[in-house]
Amino acid sequence: MIRHLLSSADLDAGTALQILDTAAEMATVAGREVKKLPALRGRTVVNLFYEDSTRTRISFEAAAKRLSADVINFSVKGSSVAKGESLKDTALTLQAMGADAVVVRHPASGAPYQLADWVDGSVVNAGDGTHEHPTQALLDAYTMRSRLGRLAGLSVAVVGDVLHSRVARSNVLLLSTLGAKVTLVGPPPLIPVDIAAALAPGATVCYDLDSVLPQSDVVMMLRVQRERMNDSYFPSAREYARRYGLDGSRMRRLPEHAIVMHPGPMNRGMEITSEVADSPRSTIVEQVANGVSVRMAVLYLLLGGNNR
Ligand code: NCD
Repeated sequence: MIRHLLSSADLDAGTALQILDTAAEMATVAGREVKKLPALRGRTVVNLFYEDSTRTRISFEAAAKRLSADVINFSVKGSSVAKGESLKDTALTLQAMGADAVVVRHPASGAPYQLADWVDGSVVNAGDGTHEHPTQALLDAYTMRSRLGRLAGLSVAVVGDVLHSRVARSNVLLLSTLGAKVTLVGPPPLIPVDIAAALAPGATVCYDLDSVLPQSDVVMMLRVQRERMNDSYFPSAREYARRYGLDGSRMRRLPEHAIVMHPGPMNRGMEITSEVADSPRSTIVEQVANGVSVRMAVLYLLLGGNNR
């Protein structure tokens, strides 16, 4: 097993499937009255979040606790980081406390790689800038497999603000490794021309959502990340929604079996309407639940379960 999970590119197909299969076993724990396994008893997991997060932070915390690890939630507000302490000094502090795993979210792309150089424990990238978010890709793959029964051969449309999306990047890499066919869809300014080819040889780009929908098994809607935009990438929110938003009538162009995904948080009414988000095709709530099982599997496997 790998020591760190920094990018979906760290995962070959065998390792990725091992994580998904382990997650399926972990999911059975969620159905029990006592939702706990002793696997990581005595180990310390630190959640180091330099950026806002609801789902991901809570999910990693629940995952570590269900494995009986000691969990330290380090929030930047109220810590010495607010006084200007560097990532390196924070890393040395975590190291001195004997963290076995550090789960890090940081606004700078690449920050988890630096951290991995400075600590002895495992580092898990929980989102670095516009770069990657590999556990989101794993939970998305898990959700697709559990709804549709397979990953190889699936047609997946990833729609919207690809330029700023670490979720898109990690998904394209992982889905390609697992044999799915990815099409990136969105307005040209939000889809860098060479991104598909750079991430995965089989991935393609299309600027017309309506033509992609009838051939898609999965539509993954991305949040329009206004906090990362310092330019105007499209004329107005209404115009964006009209061309690239998923509403009820567009959803009905999908094949009967197709599912609709979104990593959250959603801009309801912009990239997705409530009719779609709350429909039976939507896997949005399942994605959150699956996130806990997948992160349990990642922590368990990286920390060597009982074998270390
Ligand atoms: C994403 C993130 O933070 O990268 N959300 C998440 O982790 N569930 C996507 C987003 O912010 O749009």
